[in-house]
Amino acid sequence: MRFLKKGEKEKPKPQPSSETKEHPDLQVISGSQISGRQPQQQRPPQQPQQQQQNITLPNIKYKIAVASGKGGVGKSTVATNLAISLANAGSTVGLLDADAYGPSIPTMMGIQEQPKTSPERKIIPLVRHDIKLMSIGFMVPEEQAMIWRGPMLHGAIRQLLGDVDWGELDYLIIDLPPGTGDVALSLTQALPLTGALIVTTPQDVALADVRRGVAMFERLGVPILGIIENMSYFLCPHCNEKTEIFRADGGKNTSERFGVAFLGQIPLDAEVCTAGDIGVPIVAGHPESPQSEAFGEVAKELEIVLDESGEEDELTIL
Ligand SMILES: Nc1ncnc2c1ncn2[C@@H]1O[C@H](COP(=O)(O)OP(=O)(O)OP(=O)(O)O)[C@@H](O)[C@H]1O
Ligand SMILES: [Mg+2]
Repeated sequence: MRFLKKGEKEKPKPQPSSETKEHPDLQVISGSQISGRQPQQQRPPQQPQQQQQNITLPNIKYKIAVASGKGGVGKSTVATNLAISLANAGSTVGLLDADAYGPSIPTMMGIQEQPKTSPERKIIPLVRHDIKLMSIGFMVPEEQAMIWRGPMLHGAIRQLLGDVDWGELDYLIIDLPPGTGDVALSLTQALPLTGALIVTTPQDVALADVRRGVAMFERLGVPILGIIENMSYFLCPHCNEKTEIFRADGGKNTSERFGVAFLGQIPLDAEVCTAGDIGVPIVAGHPESPQSEAFGEVAKELEIVLDESGEEDELTIL
């Protein structure tokens, strides 16, 4: 695997196996292959980021990023089930998988097809469980490692926001990759967000990462709407006894420390994991389960936070 040096010419590219897997403006480096139809040196010069027009998406009321300082804490699981909970409560919802390094929403939502393009050359999001969906994973072959040049990533994020026919939505939930990296930066440069949700597990090591996540959004001027504690406890399916496997209430305590809303706790449960693997999120497959109720409670709390904050652009930066 290697990057091209400035001015170096690319070798002819192997043809991608599937025409539909390639996108004209999405360039991904994998091994010695760079996908994309235009050689790098023929592409129009990139605008400096600060001169790029913000995408506003005025037909979407709330644009909310789901983030964490650390990987594997359940962002995608929370984003997916939260989106469905909001839709079940009567809202129109879109879910954007902006994890440019490991998109998991297509699997979690059970999607294998690719979106089509409208005559106006807008990408038409796929719909599952009443949610409009778009993922970087729809554009890049599954097995391809995703290694991005900064401007390419920035362009791809802008495209996922601005070139998709999202229509009118109450919510656009945006699933971010872990950490405090370049996707969050590109996203916040491209689109004014209503705010961010931070997902964490209860133990201390994860909470140190929450601090980093909160600090990053503060720096980017994005309000933190709340903290969601995932894998908080195990609910015995036989006797309903609650066991706190990790340390109890870490997310709650951290939210108090930061003066940020605590939106709720999601139990650790094999059903939640299985549901994600089979492509039918638990809130869609088992809406009456205690796990789904927990996601429903988080959705309600989020609505309360947003209601209390008034219009999205009036939220105070913490
Ligand atoms: N509450 C839960 N109970 C049981 N399993 C869960 C729960 N939440 C998430 N998982 C499982 O943990 C794994 C990681 O979850 P997920 O992919 O949502 O995390 P993530 O934070 O998005 O990860 P990444 O940082 O890699 O994007 C998945 O296998 C998922 O099914
Ligand atoms: Mg994820």
